[in-house]
Amino acid sequence: MISSKTEYMERVCCAAEYIKNSLKNESIDIPSVCIVLGSGLAPLASMCEVLTEIPYKNIPCFPESTAPGHEGRLIVGKLSEKNVFMMSGRFHYYEGYDYDICTFYVRVMSFLKVNSLILTNAAGGLGEGMKPTDLMLIEDHVSFLCESPLRGQNLDDFGVRFPDQTCVYDKELASLLLKSAEELGITLHRGVYCYTKGPQYETPTEIKILKMLGVGAVGMSTVPEAIVASHCQMRVAAVSCITNLAAGISPVKLTQEEVIENAGKASENSCNLVKKLVEKI
Ligand code: HPA
Repeated sequence: MISSKTEYMERVCCAAEYIKNSLKNESIDIPSVCIVLGSGLAPLASMCEVLTEIPYKNIPCFPESTAPGHEGRLIVGKLSEKNVFMMSGRFHYYEGYDYDICTFYVRVMSFLKVNSLILTNAAGGLGEGMKPTDLMLIEDHVSFLCESPLRGQNLDDFGVRFPDQTCVYDKELASLLLKSAEELGITLHRGVYCYTKGPQYETPTEIKILKMLGVGAVGMSTVPEAIVASHCQMRVAAVSCITNLAAGISPVKLTQEEVIENAGKASENSCNLVKKLVEKI
């Protein structure tokens, strides 16, 4: 929770200045797009021309990434002829970070005038016809079961105290994603993502309730970041990789191995889809 907005803003400013100066020293233009490389998206970094990489630990005030498979590097690359930031590693509440830390990078990106945030994640699927390795466009979310990342002092420099949530996910980016999927011949489900704090997966009863609410996918990331990004007036696009059927729907016990394996299998589609979206932005 943000208890001192002055101190928080100083930290955002400090991290942003460090990134800005690092890029300036290498004559790299500051990107206007940031992609969060969720599970299975790591190969996107090798699909672009890497211009520079900054380990999170070198960026003042930046948290360190502890989740398995989340490396902790800010990559700047050229993808589809555009400079993009790629976050290789994100910060989850279940790692023990408070939401102001989980979403710190979003405000740093906003400070750097990044205007589009592309979020990807691994999720359990509940929607009709979904199977592991499918992709789902996140059109809206359910987060009222959890604490808001905007709790505490409001950062007025970024946005208002009571932000509207009618359109957290940008409609134009969503339609570009649908168009990209169609061009690539990739099935892209559309649905609502429910955020849970984790790290435990859901119980079958919790999944039954979420299904009644019309949820299509469930996972442990993305929503705090999307809320903060929309608070900063950033355009947000988000895609879930369905790595498993949700608890009680899946015939097998949920394991991280299954999640990693299916994220890997879906990787080619996920990377191509995001690349195509960047081409169209
Ligand atoms: N639930 C929550 N988070 C997840 C899941 C799931 O089934 N799969 C991958 N991340």
